Amino acid sequence: MTLIKQPTADIILLAARNLKAGALIGLPTETVYGLAADAENENAVRRIYEVKGRPSNHPLIVHIGSIEYLEKWARDIPEYAWTLAKMFWPGPMTLILNRSEIAKDFLTGGQESVGIRFPWSEAALSVLNKFHAIGGKGLAAPSANKFGAVSPTDAISVEEEIGRELNEKIDFILDGGQSEVGVESTIIHCLSTSYPKILRSGVVTQQDIVEKTGHQVIQNLDEESIRFPGGLESHYAPNAKVVIEGTPKSGDGFIALSSIDTPEGCVRLSNPMNLSEYARDLYSALRRGDKQDLKRIYVVIPDGDGIALAIRERMTKASR
Ligand code: TXA
Ligand code: MG
Repeated sequence: MTLIKQPTADIILLAARNLKAGALIGLPTETVYGLAADAENENAVRRIYEVKGRPSNHPLIVHIGSIEYLEKWARDIPEYAWTLAKMFWPGPMTLILNRSEIAKDFLTGGQESVGIRFPWSEAALSVLNKFHAIGGKGLAAPSANKFGAVSPTDAISVEEEIGRELNEKIDFILDGGQSEVGVESTIIHCLSTSYPKILRSGVVTQQDIVEKTGHQVIQNLDEESIRFPGGLESHYAPNAKVVIEGTPKSGDGFIALSSIDTPEGCVRLSNPMNLSEYARDLYSALRRGDKQDLKRIYVVIPDGDGIALAIRERMTKASR
């Protein structure tokens, strides 16, 4: 298995070419690391599901490196979705739109909609740009973890999660350092003609959207109606039991803002100064807890909207 530390331009080109030939590439993005494949290549996309152990009816996000590819994957795009795309792309936001004929069932899990994201991390964009230059239209990329587990935010974690499953002749993992955001993109459902709906919270918040676009946006809580793995019961979960209620016990891992002291006997796993740091370090901290074989990790969820909501959403699901 090859983990490439400081990918040169030649390596980026090789990654794009291998992707075009059906490879899987561990791809650093600003949110979390993705496991990328050519979104038009059925065999390659099927391999993503195999490697992750993910049920094949759970749709994947298509990543694009330029806004012009939006119309290749989606049709009947509402005006408000164009506004969102122009305001927040490239960035940690995924739009769910009506699919075009190139977004096949093997990609969308048989749904008539498709998720699309234009990331801003340098590594992801350089691969995407090369991939587009050789005729690729988009990269399907879920988070590079086993189904239900914690998303990786650095290359070593990708290797630990799925490295064994990769084909060393063509697949490899690009190291782009620690993901800056640390939690997955905000997913916005844009199928209604009148207003967008947030399906998964992220650092692009309801407030950002209202302020920057003037559009009304619904924070969706009815997760049952739409099939998306983040909406399943236990998700984003380490081996240790995540606890968000009750009191911390001696021997628990402990994650909280630095303004909160570590309870006696607990093992401090993260000490973030603010919410951005909290999100950035959260998944690494859960992994550190697993490395220390902790049985429980007590997480003090920050109050409020915005990033706090994104953290709360993940940790509530991890605690189930
Ligand atoms: O930040 C991110 O979004 C990362 C990076 C790698 O881009 N990707 C990511 O992918 O989190 P994944 O597959 O782990 O989570 C994507 C979520 C899933 O819950 C999926 O079901 C949902 O997006 N999704 C994708 N297409 C959808 C669709 N057509 N309708 C509803 N949900 C969809
Ligand atoms: Mg995921």
